[in-house]
Amino acid sequence: TPKGVELITEIQRLKKEKNAVILAHYYVDGEIQELADYVGDSLGLSQAAEKTEADLIVFCGVHFMGETAKILNPTKKVVVPDFNAGCSLADSVPVDEFAALKARHPHAIVVSYINCSADIKAMTDIICTSSNAVQIVESIPADREIIFAPDANLGRYVAHKTGRELILWEGACMVHIDISLEKLAVLKQEYPDALLIAHPECKEVILKEADYVGSTTALLKFVETSPNSTFIVATEAGILHKMKQSVPHKHLIPAPANEQNTCACSECPYMKMNTLEKLYNALYYELPEINLAEETRIPAYKALKAMLEVSA
Ligand code: 13P
Ligand code: SF4
Repeated sequence: TPKGVELITEIQRLKKEKNAVILAHYYVDGEIQELADYVGDSLGLSQAAEKTEADLIVFCGVHFMGETAKILNPTKKVVVPDFNAGCSLADSVPVDEFAALKARHPHAIVVSYINCSADIKAMTDIICTSSNAVQIVESIPADREIIFAPDANLGRYVAHKTGRELILWEGACMVHIDISLEKLAVLKQEYPDALLIAHPECKEVILKEADYVGSTTALLKFVETSPNSTFIVATEAGILHKMKQSVPHKHLIPAPANEQNTCACSECPYMKMNTLEKLYNALYYELPEINLAEETRIPAYKALKAMLEVSA
């Protein structure tokens, strides 16, 4: 494997040679974001994956994102830098337990957050992301029961916003629920003019304190358009890379995590499994590849397509 500058040059060369596209989530390391053709949140990345004409999609994010790209654009080869980059939310829903929940509510519409496996998507009526969850729930007739999985914090936030009662799956993002309320309180005293902006995967107690709640793209747009100059950013710290580029004159403070986290700020260990070396290897060997059985892919496609139609 080449090193340093040569590694970056080789990634760029291979990308052209193979007609590949690099898609990256805001939470991966800045050096990967710099090499990507498109950097975005889960909704933007799904839309980019669906419409790309590249032959090879290299998805720098986590496993369910690579699966989503394959579901939406199955004739393309989809590879990921690290097959083991999972997600605590996707891991929280075993298929048989989800089937049992559905069986207890046979008439419910199933809304699943995109952070779930292809198998769960295949058992879902309509997918949502943090960008459109409120809009998706509002698109469902008021008399219908709704199962909302797997992020219960996002679910409670959406229930509050829409006034709808949701049957929640008690899953959580290990990164967002680890943001420390106590340390945030100290920071807010230190920076009384700072606005607290938070991702809806955070706990309710944090969202209650927040001046603005939104998906990663919405948080980025907020710091760009707000007249305020200081922000405490309660989401994964990777988003600060784009924010700093976009508003270099503003003061951005990553929200602190609890003691058990290995870093002072909030970092997703799965997103950070994406490295330049693994990206190079994925491009070079076209491995590890995401493949799905059509019997899973087709119903999962319907649920994703239902979302994309509402979100178009
Ligand atoms: P968004 O990309 O929709 O903001 O979701 C954040 C996240 O946790 C992705 O894993
Ligand atoms: Fe999953 Fe949370 Fe990591 Fe996103 S930040 S991939 S929701 S564990």
